[in-house]
Amino acid sequence: MAKVALLTGVTGQDGSYLAELLLSKGYEVHGVVRRSSSFATGRIDHLRRGYGTNGSRLQLHYGDLGDATGLRRIIEQVRPDEVYNLAAQSHVRISFDQPEYTADVVGLGALRLLEAIRDHNVRHKRSVRFYQAGSSEMFGKAVELPQRETTPFHPRSPYACAKCYAHWQTVNYREAYGLYATNGILFNHESPRRGENFVTRKITRSATRIKLGLQDKLLLGNLQARRDWGFAGDYVEAMWLMMQQPQADDYVIATGEHHSVQEFLELAFDRVGLDWRKYVEADERYLRPAEVDVLMGDASKARRVLGWQPKVNFSQLVNMMVDADLELAERELRTLGR
Ligand code: NAP
Ligand code: GDD
Repeated sequence: MAKVALLTGVTGQDGSYLAELLLSKGYEVHGVVRRSSSFATGRIDHLRRGYGTNGSRLQLHYGDLGDATGLRRIIEQVRPDEVYNLAAQSHVRISFDQPEYTADVVGLGALRLLEAIRDHNVRHKRSVRFYQAGSSEMFGKAVELPQRETTPFHPRSPYACAKCYAHWQTVNYREAYGLYATNGILFNHESPRRGENFVTRKITRSATRIKLGLQDKLLLGNLQARRDWGFAGDYVEAMWLMMQQPQADDYVIATGEHHSVQEFLELAFDRVGLDWRKYVEADERYLRPAEVDVLMGDASKARRVLGWQPKVNFSQLVNMMVDADLELAERELRTLGR
């Protein structure tokens, strides 16, 4: 019998890579999508093509992390073996504008799922496994570098505070009810499918559009912030590995290197043969009320226990994203008939 996985956030960057990975492993995959006035399934359409005719094992269900009743119904219908909670209002800057909504979806959303799984397990004598998409943002104003599983949290945004709540509830359900509930503490991971308002994708999209004359400048905030950037495709493998262990636990997933936003800019613009200094302007709208200056993770526990390590390095990641966005910009140019 194929294993059954339920993914919240299936339409997001990580959801699309994880759905691909699980389908390739023979899983039956179910995804929760929220209703919107236009389709939000662009990242997973290639997995759904022909559903019902070619036996695709990806099925979508309308639901929302704000709606506990709906989540419970989906879990009852799907009877998953593994639940991956990837849904979130995941933009740190925007969480300062929408703190209450972010706390509801990111913090209470995780709790709603945990409660639904706890009841489902008791009612059906099952042991559904739960993965919580934790974040290096929880380390925030970090007290040590690199950050590891034992580093204390010091969240610096409504988003990070909500992720800390979800993290500790996940630990609590493991300890209180014996739930297989695992926290992945993932450092920044990017890809050509990254949302366009995160800094890496904003840069690669703009550099390539500027190169083709579709845009003339790029407005950015703090260029000195440093992040540990990896490739999303590598990071979803770590999520799956965490869910296959005999015991649930918490793991840091990171590359162990940190680079500044400016270094990312330099590499991306170099790739298209431009000098970023001629196009980038500072815009304080992109600054945050509280900034996280530097994040870098120590993933040695994941390497030791899960046998996981990243395959794509920093410059390969930048090049992959620039090359994909150059193709996208060329398509845009053709659509404009230029
Ligand atoms: P993303 O691209 O922003 O995707 C977020 C997903 O959550 C989307 O599918 C979105 O649906 C869905 N969503 C948002 N609000 C929802 C709600 N109220 N109910 C149901 N679904 C909702 O994020 P990502 O980069 O794939 O990240 C996946 C998870 O990992 C997130 O929880 C994020 O916070 C966490 N994380 C990410 C990173 C990273 O560097 N990428 C690092 C650490 C942790 P729509 O498509 O409809 O918007
Ligand atoms: N988004 C954005 N836009 N960030 C900018 C800009 C800009 O114009 N200019 C500078 N930055 C800086 C931010 O201030 C931050 O220090 C850094 O670039 C990275 O910003 P983001 O790409 O928005 O990512 P993030 O680190 O805040 O959050 C991402 O990673 C977290 C894991 O550490 C998100 O994916 C979170 O969901 C995730 O938890």
